[in-house]
Amino acid sequence: MAELVSEYKIAKEIYEHGKEIILTDEAQEMKKFTQHGDTSVFEHAVSVAKYSLIYAIAFEKIFGKELDKKSLVRGALLHDYFLYDWHEKHKGHGLHGFTHPRTAADNADRDFDLNDREKDIISKHMFPLTPIPPKHIESAIVCIADKWCAICETFKIDISSYIIYRINFRFDLVRGNIRIGRESHALK
Ligand SMILES: [Fe+2]
Ligand SMILES: [Fe+2]
Repeated sequence: MAELVSEYKIAKEIYEHGKEIILTDEAQEMKKFTQHGDTSVFEHAVSVAKYSLIYAIAFEKIFGKELDKKSLVRGALLHDYFLYDWHEKHKGHGLHGFTHPRTAADNADRDFDLNDREKDIISKHMFPLTPIPPKHIESAIVCIADKWCAICETFKIDISSYIIYRINFRFDLVRGNIRIGRESHALK
């Protein structure tokens, strides 16, 4: 897919579409929880946003149909916004695979202003484990990208470290955690 669009452009597009989510303390909470292997839920979400965008761009080129890429990225970023450690089975998370899409959708709906497409992306991303199929192409794309990222993370195959670095870099820059150039030009 490298010939379709560069990693730099993908990172830029994820940030532009997703910054109202990425820059919030609420979304940053996902860094506290592990998803697969050594990957945090936040890193997993960024990785899913990356592959969702790549698949969407390929879909648009093949079928000549424009997709809602902003909703795609926002839904991908929040698809696992369940905000607990699902490895702690003794805390009632034994049915996590079946229940977390609803939990994530409810949490996301509480903390962010979502449209119907974004809600569908979040609540249907575990299809076919959860039986109701995605209603939109964007939801189906995130559903597929999620499975691809989960496999790579489980087997510790690095597919998204550059994108994750870029997104964290933009976050730190906006928050003033890092400074570029001379002190007089430093971001406040
Ligand atoms: Fe999930
Ligand atoms: Fe996921």
